Amino acid sequence: MGIKVGICGAGHFAANFIGLYKAHPQVEEVVLADLAVDRARAAADQHGIRRVMGSLDELCRSDVDAIAIFTQRHLHAPQAIQALNAGKHVLCAVPPALSMDDLATLVQTVERTGLVYMLNETSYYYPAACYARERFQKGDMGRFVYAEAQYLHDMSQMYGSFQHSGGANWKRVAGFPPMFYCTHSVSLVLSVTGARATHVSCLGYVDNHEDHIFRVGANEWDNVFSNESALMRTSDGGSLRINEFRRVGWDAHNMTTMSLYGTGGTLEENPLSVCWTRLAPPEQVDVLPHLRVHAGGTGSGFLGVSAAHPVHRLPESFKGLKNGHQGSHFFLVDDFVRAASSGRQPPCNVWNAARWTLPGLVAHESARREGEMLRIPDLGAGPAGGAF
Ligand SMILES: NC(=O)c1ccc[n+]([C@@H]2O[C@H](COP(=O)([O-])OP(=O)(O)OC[C@H]3O[C@@H](n4cnc5c(N)ncnc54)[C@H](O)[C@@H]3O)[C@@H](O)[C@H]2O)c1
Repeated sequence: MGIKVGICGAGHFAANFIGLYKAHPQVEEVVLADLAVDRARAAADQHGIRRVMGSLDELCRSDVDAIAIFTQRHLHAPQAIQALNAGKHVLCAVPPALSMDDLATLVQTVERTGLVYMLNETSYYYPAACYARERFQKGDMGRFVYAEAQYLHDMSQMYGSFQHSGGANWKRVAGFPPMFYCTHSVSLVLSVTGARATHVSCLGYVDNHEDHIFRVGANEWDNVFSNESALMRTSDGGSLRINEFRRVGWDAHNMTTMSLYGTGGTLEENPLSVCWTRLAPPEQVDVLPHLRVHAGGTGSGFLGVSAAHPVHRLPESFKGLKNGHQGSHFFLVDDFVRAASSGRQPPCNVWNAARWTLPGLVAHESARREGEMLRIPDLGAGPAGGAF
């Protein structure tokens, strides 16, 4: 007998995951829920799903064991807390929360209930992160010195995403501070080193675009910055530069990249090459071919993965199915199902989610104070765990 998974939100992003949950051998049933119930029905018909519901409330009252939340960005924390309080394991799309109070309540709720919370952080399974994590854990990178990571996504490319469920007021939430959506970039680095960011200084770019999204009074946060750049101190003595840009002339395939410099070795990534280099023993290689995601797979039968992905742990039933976000979808679904089935916290657990989010929440406050260096609070490390 497997678990019953309720998917909350049958919008654009959820469409990538419904078939994978359905195919997972440890999932007995998938239930779909959306306030726009026609969206849920259409997806249910497509995937042969029997039960459709009209809200998260209904899912919480139902017999599902776990709920995967794929709703709009500003709704996540209260919905995740509601689902945990209803006794459900929770997976949630990023960002986990848009305020420190919500984030603290989320962590406390997981600690009180003992349930699983997992952030659906695609960056965690990007090939560069998998590769860097392996080499860092082997000691090949030595001690962490410095890293830079960025998520560059121009607002003009996201209008449709905010309009899809945002109604006439979509701009009021589209204008949230860029640093509030920092988990893609921050987790790329901290998921490799295992450290946390302790202090941050951040500067913002005051927007003047005619779409008037980033203006005082135009959004829920009175946010005027469309681009934010932060420099952080990390708990292992290194430093980390993060760019979160929403108004930038950038149209490369890969929007989320990092470079990580250690005393022993370095991984330097840009969209056209990924260089791995070290002094002793001397090594200088372009690892891009190793990290490149192949639509048709790498011969293993799993599509959309790279040679850096640990495909041996995936269920056979994923073979031939569509993957996405640089191969990460398969691993995220498998992590959550294994975690919810066993009660063991996954790598992208609530404590890591907090450590990948808090730096951005504090960074924005620093930007409002023109770069003042601020301390980043910590909500704890959680139980020791590891990869599945
Ligand atoms: N790489 C990534 O990690 C990545 C990529 C894309 C999107 N996302 C995230 O995915 C999330 C969803 O984005 P999207 O583009 O699919 O949005 P969307 O607007 O297409 O879908 C959201 C759906 O949630 C439904 N919903 C809202 N509240 C609900 C409730 N209480 N009960 C039931 N249904 C409810 C809406 O009706 C809507 O259909 C966003 O938070 C976004 O940040 C993450």
